[in-house]
Amino acid sequence: MLTAARNELLTRVGPGTPMGELLRRYWQPVGGASELLKDPIKPIRIMGENLVLYRDRGGRYGLVDRHCTHRRADLAYGWVEDHGIRCSYHGWRFDESGECVEQPYEDTTNPKPSKANCGTRAYPVRECAGLLFAYMGPLPAPELPVWEPFLWPNGFREVVLADVPCNWLQCQENSIDPIHFEWMHDNWSNRMRGSDASSAKHLKLKFEQIDHGFVYKRVREGQSEQDRAWTVGRVALWPNGFYLGRHFEWRVPVDDENTLSVAWFFVRVPKGREPYVQDTVPTWQAPIRDENGRWITSHVINQDIAAWAGQGRIADRTRENLRSSDVGITMMRNRLFEELETVQKGGDPWGVIRDPAKARNIALPDMGREANVDGISLAEFDNDPVLKQRLREFRHHYGQPQEVRDAFCAAMGI
Ligand code: FES
Ligand SMILES: [Fe+2]
Repeated sequence: MLTAARNELLTRVGPGTPMGELLRRYWQPVGGASELLKDPIKPIRIMGENLVLYRDRGGRYGLVDRHCTHRRADLAYGWVEDHGIRCSYHGWRFDESGECVEQPYEDTTNPKPSKANCGTRAYPVRECAGLLFAYMGPLPAPELPVWEPFLWPNGFREVVLADVPCNWLQCQENSIDPIHFEWMHDNWSNRMRGSDASSAKHLKLKFEQIDHGFVYKRVREGQSEQDRAWTVGRVALWPNGFYLGRHFEWRVPVDDENTLSVAWFFVRVPKGREPYVQDTVPTWQAPIRDENGRWITSHVINQDIAAWAGQGRIADRTRENLRSSDVGITMMRNRLFEELETVQKGGDPWGVIRDPAKARNIALPDMGREANVDGISLAEFDNDPVLKQRLREFRHHYGQPQEVRDAFCAAMGI
C-alpha cells in the first residue's frame, strides 16, 4: 500500500514532474517505422506533450511540437519535404533539430530579422528493428539500447500499437506479476470457453534484480526447479518494458491517464526457410473495445488491458493489499523511488547507457533461445505451446490485419 502522495509521485508523468523527468532519461518506442511509409506525418501525444512524428523525403526522422511556432497551426496538416516539415498555414519549415530553416515571406521581403527565436521543440528519433524510438530528456542523449533480439536474422517481425486508457504504471506492474497468467490468461480463457478446468497452480515464485530490470521465476504444478521458467525466467525490463522471449512490450506514457502500448514480435522462420529477409516490419493498431464499448477479451494482451484499465485511470494504491505474490511489484516501486532521487541529484538513473560498446548488443534472459537463434524445424514448433499457437493464429492482440497474417504464413511456409 502506498500513501496518496507516493502514488502521485510514481504516476504523474507530465513535463516537470519527477516521474516524467525520470522516464524522459530513457529512449521510448513511439511507433513503427512502416507507419510513416504510408503517411509521413503522425500526430502523437507522449509524456503529456502534443507532437508530430515525421519522416522527411530525405529519410530523416523528426519529432517536433505539434503547433507551429509562427501562429500555432497544426503541423499534422503540414507536409514533409526533402529536408524537414513545412507548415501548411504560411509555409514555415523546420528541420529535425527544431530549427526554423525557412520563412518564405520574410525570406523574400525582409530577410534581415533572425529566425533564431523561431525554433521549435524537437526530440531525437532513431529507428531500430522496425521501431521508432524517441529521446525526450536532457542532451546529450544516451545510447539507444539495442537488445539482442533486434539483431536476430531470419525472423518475421511485427509491431502492434494500442491506446490504453489508464496510467502507465499499472500496465508496467503487470510485467512483474506472474500469478495473473494462471488466472487471467488460463482460467479466465477457460471460463469464457465454458470450461471449469483449472490450469496448473503456481507453487513457487522468485524475483531477482538483473542488469536491465527484474526477472520473475516460477514453478507451476507439473514443473520443477529444472524448468526454464525457474532457471531463466522472464524480464520486467527497466523502466517500462517487458521481455518474454521473442516479444517485447512497452508501456509508454501518453499522459497521466493514457498509455501507448507498443509491442514487438519475432518468430524465426523454420529451418530450411532461411535466408529470410523482411524488407519492412509491418505496424498495426489493435482495437481494444468491441462494438458495445466493452473490452475485447479474446486475446492475451487484450485481457491484460481489461485488467489495467479496470484498475481505474490511475489505480488507487492507497487501497490495495499486497501479498507475497506482489514482492516483485514492491521491488520495482522501491527502485523507482530510488531512481527519482538519482535524477534529482543530477545523476544518470539506472539502466542509462553512455558507452556505445555496451549498447550495441544487449543479451537478455530468454527461455526460448534456441528456437530464436539457431532455429527449429516446422515439426518442432509443436513442442512449444506459444509457437504452435502462432502458426494457427495471432493470440496476443485482437485485430491482426489479413495482409500481416498472409505475410507471416508466407515467411513460415504454411
Ligand atoms: S502558423 Fe505555421 S507558418 Fe504560420
Ligand atoms: Fe498478461
